[in-house]
Amino acid sequence: MKEQLKELETEALEKVQLAEDTKALQDVRVAYLGKKGPITEVLRGMGRLSKEERPVIGQLANEVREHIQDAIDSKQNSLEEAALDKQLEEEKLDVTLPGRPVQVGGPHLLTNILEEIEDLFIGMGFEIKEGPEVETDYYNFEALNLPKGHPARDMQDSFYITEELLLRTHTSPVQARTMKQKDGEPVRMICPGKVYRRDTDDATHSHQFTQVEGLLVDKNVRMSDLKGVLNTFAKQMFGSERDIRLRPSFFPFTEPSVEMDISCKVCDGKGCSVCKGTGWIEILGAGMVHPNVLEMAGYDPDVYSGFAFGMGPERIAMLKYGVDDIRHFYTNDIRFLKQYHKV
Ligand code: PHE
Repeated sequence: MKEQLKELETEALEKVQLAEDTKALQDVRVAYLGKKGPITEVLRGMGRLSKEERPVIGQLANEVREHIQDAIDSKQNSLEEAALDKQLEEEKLDVTLPGRPVQVGGPHLLTNILEEIEDLFIGMGFEIKEGPEVETDYYNFEALNLPKGHPARDMQDSFYITEELLLRTHTSPVQARTMKQKDGEPVRMICPGKVYRRDTDDATHSHQFTQVEGLLVDKNVRMSDLKGVLNTFAKQMFGSERDIRLRPSFFPFTEPSVEMDISCKVCDGKGCSVCKGTGWIEILGAGMVHPNVLEMAGYDPDVYSGFAFGMGPERIAMLKYGVDDIRHFYTNDIRFLKQYHKV
C-alpha cells in the first residue's frame, strides 16, 4: 500500500507540473484528491489493515495528500503570475514615444473676411443686422421696387419654396426689414449672410454664396457720402495704393445705381489677365436708395435719403488672396483651408 501511495504521489506531481492552465490543474486536483480519487479510496480501505499498519499508512496518505495539495497551490501561483506577465507584456506602453500631433482647426477664410468687413464698418459706426435665409417674395423683391413680373427679377434666378417663399437671392431684403424696424429713425447697418441663386456652379458662380449688404438712411445723405464710405472701405481692405471708380449701373432699388471697381493690384492698373486688360476690377454694386423703397418702408423721400451697397465676400477674398475658383470656399479641401489659418 505504501508503494501504491508513493506511486500515486509521483504520478500526481508530474501531472501538476504538466498542467498548462488553471482548468487543467483543477482537473488534476479532482482526479487525485477528490472524493472519488485514489487517495480517498486508499483511506477507505484502511479498515482492512492491521492495528500497527493503520497509523503509518494513515500518516503517509495524509502526507501524500499535503504534498499534492502544496504542489497544486504553488503551480496555481506560478500560472497566475505567468498570466499576469503575459498581460503586462501585451499591454506594454512606451511612455517615452512622442505623442501623435493633434489636428487643430481654425476659422474658415470666409469667416475671417466677413469679420474683417464687419470690423471695418463697425469702425465707421455701422451696426450688424441679420435676416432670414428663407424670405418672403415681398421682402426679397416687392419691397425693393421689384413688383411681380418685373423683368429684373430674371437677373436673380430664384429657388422658390412656395409661391410666396424663397431662399433669398440677395441680402437686400434686410434693408427693407431694418427700415421697417427702425420706424422712421436713421439707419446705419450692414448685414452679412448667405444667399442662394439658381446658378450652375463654375469657377466664378456658386448656387450659394455670401453677401454683405450696407444701408445708411438719414437726412441729407448724398452720393459723395457713399463714395467716401466705399473709398475708406476699399483702401482699408486692399491697401491705401488702391483707387476706386464708380460706373453707372442699374438696380431697381437704387437710383442712381453704380458699380464700384478698384484698381487692379496685380498690374497696378496697367492691365493684365486678372483685370482683363482694363486695369480695374469690379467689387460691388451700390446706389442711392430708390424713393419707392424709402416710401414703402415708411420714410418720407422728400426728407430722408440714403445709400445702399452689396458686396460678395468670396470675390473680395479671391482678389485679396489670389484664389482662382469660388468652389474652393465650399469644397473645404483641408489643404486649401490650412493656408489661411491665422497663427
Ligand atoms: N443686391 C444687389 C445684388 O445682389 C447688390 C446691391 C445691393 C446693389 C445694394 C445696390 C445696392 O446684386
